[in-house]
Amino acid sequence: MITDKFGRPLQDLRISVTDRCNFRCTYCMPKEIFGKDYPFLPKSHLLTFEEIERLAKAFVKLGVKKIRLTGGEPLLRRDLPDLIQRLSVIDGLEDIGLTTNATLLEKMAPDLKTAGLKRINVSLDALDNSLFQSINDSGISTERVLKGIEKAVQVGLQVKVNMVVKKGMNEQEVLPMATYFKDKGITLRYIEFMDVGTTNGWNFQKVITKKQLFDEISKHFELEAVESAYIGEVAKRYRYKGTNTEVGFITSVSESFCSTCTRARIAADGKLYTCLFASGGFDFKELLRSGVTDAELEKQIASIWNQRVDRYSDERTEESAKEKEKIEMSYIGG
Ligand code: GTP
Ligand code: 5AD
Ligand code: SF4
Ligand code: SF4
Repeated sequence: MITDKFGRPLQDLRISVTDRCNFRCTYCMPKEIFGKDYPFLPKSHLLTFEEIERLAKAFVKLGVKKIRLTGGEPLLRRDLPDLIQRLSVIDGLEDIGLTTNATLLEKMAPDLKTAGLKRINVSLDALDNSLFQSINDSGISTERVLKGIEKAVQVGLQVKVNMVVKKGMNEQEVLPMATYFKDKGITLRYIEFMDVGTTNGWNFQKVITKKQLFDEISKHFELEAVESAYIGEVAKRYRYKGTNTEVGFITSVSESFCSTCTRARIAADGKLYTCLFASGGFDFKELLRSGVTDAELEKQIASIWNQRVDRYSDERTEESAKEKEKIEMSYIGG
């Protein structure tokens, strides 16, 4: 096991497989910036599946137990089930998940399941179709996402839903979402709007905190706390009393969880970041393509992790949110 400067082990790896997305969520990839001329990564700059597999094996050797595939929108990456199949047979890897907007899920769920995927987290910010379309800014309907979720459940994938709540955007959907997914027996997690990247116009006034969300939901449903499943879990979990259905809150802004953060992130171009709010990363694509040995690869990862001192959310201020150069969420995958 390797640890960073604060004694935090390296346990989770999030791998972004593409920086492209078919949505233009206003808080993540606003159309004015992510337009036709936006310089997305060319194919030659993306890690190949062989390269991702090799890196994943090195991380697992160093203690990673859990890998999550992200994007952009990961299901846009051609032949993604092949990558999942390669990862699912890595010795020592206990869990593989995927975070998706679900537009391609109805079609792909069976292949993802067959390839060895266990869990899927679907992003959905509203049930009301016209509101959802105004948020995703790409004309895709709620129905399409809900059908994707249904199919994933049907083929036996464990499904959770993520809802980013932003003041003035979708607070009226907090209760309808709770009711809908409670009835379906699906875990819904509310995410506090975060200051990721430099293009989403974040400030503290736009954040609806866990406490506000919890109070609102508690007016209608009785919630009881659930112990976290493991150290470093990002969501505070609750159960609707008298059911097995959970609801969670991801409190990066109001109650930061840096002290137990065990996550590393690899962007689609092979850069390794040790925090979601990092400004710079280490280029593993170059290293992989220079003919590095496995031992050297592991040594390099260990050395970067050993020097890690990130705790951005613990230290966040309105100034740091505005002034710090940060990578975009769609590039690093959340
Ligand atoms: P599970 O394995 O199902 O618990 O997944 P997860 O919650 O780790 O992953 P998911 O992709 O569903 O992320 C949900 C939200 O949590 C996203 O908005 C992420 O950006 C946020 N999140 C995940 N890890 C971190 C982290 O280390 N720091 C911060 N600030 N936010 C995180
Ligand atoms: N704040 C919080 N969550 C965000 N996501 C994207 N941008 C933000 C933001 N600024 C969410 C997505 C997805 C997850 C990976 O991150 O909606 O559910
Ligand atoms: Fe929306 Fe996720 Fe795509 Fe960003 S990456 S635009 S949050 S669907
Ligand atoms: Fe981890 Fe950085 Fe998020 Fe803190 S802000 S929990 S260090 S990724």
